[in-house]
Amino acid sequence: MESFAYNTLNPGIETRVSDLLARMTLAEKIGQLNQISPMSYLPPGPDWVRGDPPRLEPFPDVEALCASGAVGSIYNTDSAAFVNRCQRAAVTRTRLGIPLIVGGDVIHGFRTVFPIPLALASTWNPELVAQTARVAAEEASATGIDWIFAPMVDIARDPRWGRIAEGSGEDVYLGGVMAAAQVRGFQARGLASGKRVAACPKHFVAYGGAESGRDYNAVDISEVALRQVYLPPFKAAFDAGAGSTMSAFNDIGGVPASGNPLTLKKILREEWAWPGLVVSDYESVRELIPHGVAEDLKDATRLGLLSGVDMDMVSRGYITHLADLVAEGSVPEAVIDEAVRRVLRLKYALGLFENPYVDEARESELMLTPANQAVALEAARGSMVLLKNEGDLLPLVPGAQRLAVIGPLAESRFDPLGCWAFFGRTQDSQSVVDGLRAYLGEASPAPVAGCDLIDTTVLDTEAAVAAAQAADVVVLVVGEIQELSGEAHSRAYLGLPGRQQELVDAVAATGKPLVVVLLTGRPLVIPRLAQQASALLVAWHAGIRAGQAVADLLFGAVAPTGRLTASWPRAEGQIPVYYAQKNTGRPISGDGTTQFVEHFRSAYLDVPNAPLYPFGFGLTYTSFAYSDLVVETPELATADTLRVHVTLANTGDRAGVEVVQLYVRDLVGSVTRPVRELKAFERVELAPGEARVVSFAVPVADLAFVGVDHAWRVEPGAFKVWVGAHAATGLESGFKVVA
Ligand code: BGC
Repeated sequence: MESFAYNTLNPGIETRVSDLLARMTLAEKIGQLNQISPMSYLPPGPDWVRGDPPRLEPFPDVEALCASGAVGSIYNTDSAAFVNRCQRAAVTRTRLGIPLIVGGDVIHGFRTVFPIPLALASTWNPELVAQTARVAAEEASATGIDWIFAPMVDIARDPRWGRIAEGSGEDVYLGGVMAAAQVRGFQARGLASGKRVAACPKHFVAYGGAESGRDYNAVDISEVALRQVYLPPFKAAFDAGAGSTMSAFNDIGGVPASGNPLTLKKILREEWAWPGLVVSDYESVRELIPHGVAEDLKDATRLGLLSGVDMDMVSRGYITHLADLVAEGSVPEAVIDEAVRRVLRLKYALGLFENPYVDEARESELMLTPANQAVALEAARGSMVLLKNEGDLLPLVPGAQRLAVIGPLAESRFDPLGCWAFFGRTQDSQSVVDGLRAYLGEASPAPVAGCDLIDTTVLDTEAAVAAAQAADVVVLVVGEIQELSGEAHSRAYLGLPGRQQELVDAVAATGKPLVVVLLTGRPLVIPRLAQQASALLVAWHAGIRAGQAVADLLFGAVAPTGRLTASWPRAEGQIPVYYAQKNTGRPISGDGTTQFVEHFRSAYLDVPNAPLYPFGFGLTYTSFAYSDLVVETPELATADTLRVHVTLANTGDRAGVEVVQLYVRDLVGSVTRPVRELKAFERVELAPGEARVVSFAVPVADLAFVGVDHAWRVEPGAFKVWVGAHAATGLESGFKVVA
């Protein structure tokens, strides 16, 4: 995929920016740094049904505001016509005719809604993920969006945090790969809308480290962790061409991210020499006041701008106070110039001066095309993860077993859309029941909800138990509604919400085999459910084609290929639980050990350390065997490349895809190192009985880590390497890096 890059300076653009800047008044400059959200969300109204699109209404004065030159950017607009009206006001009615840049929260698709990002990452298929981003950019740009506030590249190791849904999960390396793939897709060349789109990786930085998984909460991490865990996915996104980022809500060790010169100036500008634009998150400049580091909005404005936030989203601090701050001498105009330069740079690079408008006639034609829907189906199929399949219960054979379909999510077309799907429509989406019906037709069983999704006190097991008793196999569709994940949707208990577990218990008591289809926006804590299920398919919130994808997988038209990208805990008390943990000075000697077995070790009294399902885990309808791990390069210099080969065989009787994962451990470092780190992976498709040598080449430079001096380096010494199916298994060998 050919993509634009917005992370490098273009001399032609720099000349145009300097020329324009020289002609701008201070007020015009400040206007460029002001971003507004021009639509208000209206209250739902009496006829509102859950799943209806949000009711939006533009501010009455929005065009006049754009014509006044006091606005550089608008975001979350609803149509090409509206964007063109605002744009026309800016281009034709301001003195210099500088176009607006139009932002949008396009998190996992636009009208064609894809699986949530956590699910997309579970495909372990960066090419497919890039395609979903390209389609999203295609549709979004058809309504005039130039700037997509995604990918969310926050590493998330706490599933209580609802925003784990929006990112790629717990892993630094995979997070970087997925971040880069999305940037390439969003910034693809040749969009049919004739527009260009810029990605905005967010939230800079360490937002996913929120204490206790509560959204917006404090983050208190070491600078080593900041650099080693949270920053690399941003670096990967910038290296892939991203030319903007969004400064986060959280603080880091007492310094709010939207007033943090270490991250916004020293790291971004001095160390990375990145010339991109920093926009604040929604009112995160104003929030410097409740954080307790600014006295009032004027003080917050000074702090935000001087710390490196170029554009102010919604706070209205810059537009209200910057001129006075310059007059008083507390903000040098040169700092404003630099910020404006970054805004104009992106506007020129996007071609907005030449091509400010969007073709309204093509808007609907580019939405939800059959090709886009085909990508949604492929992504939905690829994202789902099979966690259990006792006795090869799956795949089912259509018509061969009498099915019961039970559970409050079975008929939902709204919930598969997931969080942050403002532009999605329930009418475009399919439920699991829709998907099954396409296979079973008239013979489709009537679904039984059993309990209510919203009124969590309602439980009615009678019909569910009767349906189960009359069936050979029960398909139970349970999990989270879409409002339970995403921003400001953290949970402390991660079991099945409401009375669903009671419903499962009643159905399980019939003794019928249970195929559990779990719709969710996060890893759940489901040890009991996992035991009751004969088969367990994590179907996430997988977008508009979720229903068909579930049916295709259950009936074996396609085999599952997804693998987890975040560990699934056994108990909330284990959180954060992630595979790249530290060894500690008192590691346990084996899996599943508790303090009663081994005393004075880093373990719990009541639960093993290991998660219920580890990172990288997922089953399919065939089996694979690994053999002959060969390290071709047992001794390497720092400039060399580690070469490792393994033989993978499909030992089952169906074709299948295995995600072959390579992990390393640096045994001795100047700081403590994780017990394992993913360094490479490959999706390998094998026919039944087929075997193939899978080869990896990992530059030794990729084994670098951050020392106490905060510098990256590879330290010579011994390493272990594993190649296998997930983070808790693999064939093991070793190698040595020499100075
Ligand atoms: C979210 C961002 C989003 C922004 C604009 C904020 O509340 O944290 O992710 O891009 O709103 O809608």
